[in-house]
Amino acid sequence: MAYAIEAQGLRKSFQTHEAVRGVDLAIRQGELFALLGPNGAGKTTTIHMLTTLLRPDEGTASISGYDVVKDATVVRRHISVTGQYAALDEGLTGWQNLTLFAGLHGYSRKDAHALATELLGSFNLEDAGSRTVGTYSGGMHRRLDLAAGILSAPQVMFLDEPTTGLDPQSRRELWEAVRRLVKNGTTVLLTTQYLEEADQLADRIGFIAQGRIIAVDTPEQLKASIGGKTLTIRLAEGTDSADICHLLASEHGLAAHSEEDELIVKAAVPEAALAHAVIGTLIGQGAAIDDFALSEPTLDDVYFALTPNRGSEVGT
Ligand SMILES: Nc1ncnc2c1ncn2[C@@H]1O[C@H](COP(=O)(O)OP(=O)(O)O)[C@@H](O)[C@H]1O
Ligand SMILES: [Mg+2]
Repeated sequence: MAYAIEAQGLRKSFQTHEAVRGVDLAIRQGELFALLGPNGAGKTTTIHMLTTLLRPDEGTASISGYDVVKDATVVRRHISVTGQYAALDEGLTGWQNLTLFAGLHGYSRKDAHALATELLGSFNLEDAGSRTVGTYSGGMHRRLDLAAGILSAPQVMFLDEPTTGLDPQSRRELWEAVRRLVKNGTTVLLTTQYLEEADQLADRIGFIAQGRIIAVDTPEQLKASIGGKTLTIRLAEGTDSADICHLLASEHGLAAHSEEDELIVKAAVPEAALAHAVIGTLIGQGAAIDDFALSEPTLDDVYFALTPNRGSEVGT
């Protein structure tokens, strides 16, 4: 059976800038796939090619076996793309918006009313349904947008950074809505800059950086691929984290990096015993350490292992 989403060697340049440089994807029906990467990595450009909005310079892509260029009209009937809530009428209530969309998709008046009411319920918008959309919060907007998006019963949904800029509570509510979609069999390709979001939601994650997919796997496998444990060291105020990173490299051959306020240094260690040796070295050299901990690797650690020179562009 054809993949829900398949891409081979997709490329797209804007003038001289190569935004997407050879993207391959094979996403199964019913899968929730997260394309995870920093701003400018090429996520939206990839989605635009998969959703027929942009023509690839090179490569091919298909949705449920239909080519995004040759069979663009059929592809559009199979998909829904959110993040385009320009389609929502701010002057109408949530219920009126959904009723209108349902009518456009061929539902009778009675069925449209019932569907609108049902969707408001399942997206936690019962109370908001009778208010005009102009009064909605960012999170309510996105949920109504999702509800409108699934009205056409798409086989494949594209959610381009659906939670960027939302507060944690709204983000969780949107996650719930997305989980429900996938439970009902919809294939979802979601893009995000948030590691935690990909970890929470995705069956598989594709890390994208500078237009290329640099790793694809389940969150569990990605974390396991690091091997060993992560040593996190909190330095005392006034300590130079770069010096500590150099010391860990020269004394123990570890690729360490610093984070946040530069007072946290992290390194992957193959075994706990090495962590003890590292701390011993640091204390022996007179480094001022406030705290240290050994933990299982996170997606954050995977990201740093994959992009050692790129710094912390992706959020947690
Ligand atoms: N229409 C455009 N014209 C010129 N450059 C663009 C255009 N769209 C995107 N880009 C550039 O292509 C790169 C990838 O952009 P995009 O796909 O939007 O990344 P992401 O969605 O991961 O943030 C960026 O460097 C961006 O500035
Ligand atoms: Mg984008």
